Amino acid sequence: QKATFHYGDTSAEVVEVEADVSLMRAAVTKGVAGIVGECGGQAMCATCHVYVREQYLDALPAIGDDEDEMLDCTVSPRDPARSRLACQLILGPDLDAIEVDVPERQV
Ligand code: FES
Repeated sequence: QKATFHYGDTSAEVVEVEADVSLMRAAVTKGVAGIVGECGGQAMCATCHVYVREQYLDALPAIGDDEDEMLDCTVSPRDPARSRLACQLILGPDLDAIEVDVPERQV
């Protein structure tokens, strides 16, 4: 499983994501720039905010209440369709790859 973190249209970082590991955890472990994960994955900090690219949106799990609340507290503006918390995204059989855009700021 792999995740691609895009920075504008010019650069990107691709990381392997192991089973049952959140996108946030995979990014932080690999040192992906722009993903902070301050709360350790509890949907309580919003510093793992990402914009999911459109072709992957349908395969994602629904937004939970905690995630929804935190998405209103992101430093970069929330996109009603594409904003998610990377700590709440786990790849699985329905979704073995994902591409996201990293917001300009997390804090
Ligand atoms: Fe804190 Fe995702 S790591 S909300």
